[in-house]
Amino acid sequence: MAKSPNTEGYPYSPGLEGVPAGESALCQIDEGEAGLRYRGYAITDLADQATFEEVAFLLLLGKLPTRKELDDFRAQVHAHWALPGPVEAFLGVVPPDAHPMDLLRTGVSLLGMTDPDAAEGSHEANVRKSIRLLAQIPLVIATAYRLAHGRPRVQPQPKLTFAENVLYLLTDQQGTEATRAMARALDVSLILYAEHEFNASTFAARVAASTLTDMHAAASAAIGTLKGPLHGGANTAVMNKLLELGDEDAVEPYVDSALAAGEKIMGFGHRVYKVMDPRALILKGFSQRLGELGEPKWYRMSEVLELAVKAKKGLDCNVDFYSASTYYALGIPPDLYTCLFAISRVSGWTAHVMEQYANNRLIRPRSNWVGPEPRDYVPLERRG
Ligand code: COA
Repeated sequence: MAKSPNTEGYPYSPGLEGVPAGESALCQIDEGEAGLRYRGYAITDLADQATFEEVAFLLLLGKLPTRKELDDFRAQVHAHWALPGPVEAFLGVVPPDAHPMDLLRTGVSLLGMTDPDAAEGSHEANVRKSIRLLAQIPLVIATAYRLAHGRPRVQPQPKLTFAENVLYLLTDQQGTEATRAMARALDVSLILYAEHEFNASTFAARVAASTLTDMHAAASAAIGTLKGPLHGGANTAVMNKLLELGDEDAVEPYVDSALAAGEKIMGFGHRVYKVMDPRALILKGFSQRLGELGEPKWYRMSEVLELAVKAKKGLDCNVDFYSASTYYALGIPPDLYTCLFAISRVSGWTAHVMEQYANNRLIRPRSNWVGPEPRDYVPLERRG
């Protein structure tokens, strides 16, 4: 065997399961009652009492904001509710059936080229880039969606909260008691999606950042990673499956046939949680309450599916399961659910990128060699 610095003696864990791959002070998966904490605060408390803007501030700037700091932060986000000309031009020429996450990935890449701080890598510039991304990502998604569906553009409104603006941009709904309640459901989902330790997209962002590439390059890597159905793509897949099944009676036969065929059922299982994802529990309540106000069928089908998968395979649902029926009740098209995840998770990605820069070492693991023994090169003319 050829001599090379070998990996013997280092434990190998497929998918890096259980392997600590860095240190972080952003999010802790807590096996106690809270389930999950952002910078020490239980997500149950944040979901009950905070807004997404407060949580984004907490992740990016390290503390909960005072009233004045929050007002300033909101004003900064509002100041960036606009897209640069090249991004507008790009959105005007993409095929209408392009995948929204592909649009977002390319849109964020272009935002990096046009960012006023593009040449700046200081911490202050990275905070400014993060705040711009928070505002611009929903706008990229909504603009592309509206262009593809021939719907008139609407402009975010300073009097609305972040979640109210996202709901308005995607569905035109705003300004009534009912839409405020809907926006609160969206707000809580954004809080729950904001951060989750070394999940795949965040890890992709940190690997990219560890090479000292820029914030937008790291965010683009994260968006490409989030798109996959084993990660953020699951929430869209859950809703598409519910729509395809169409009726409670179709749920159990589907579970039986999927499990018999060894297929994954989207929205179930988790690499870390072996009990119900604490975020799913909170979203289940919103899915139920919104269903009671409108069309209860999707919540009911979801619950039948949840119980069947638990009974037949022992698996609990994850955050992407009840976000699907919650978002559907808000009138948001299923194709955009993974984008909603990105609208929120960019706060976690950018916080992680800054944390990586602050204490950087290149992330460069090893692989175990499973290929052929060393062999001699055979010149082209002698190969049979
Ligand atoms: N449906 C059916 N079976 C599932 C499953 C699912 N959603 N998730 C895990 N399993 C089963 C596997 O088939 C395997 O069963 P086996 O031991 O009988 O072969 C076992 O559970 C372990 O699964 P594995 O894929 O090795 O777990 P993982 O830690 O690598 O994967 C996920 C974690 C999240 C990728 C996986 O649960 C999954 O693919 N879920 C569906 C996609 C999803 O909802 N993603 C969002 C995550 S927040």
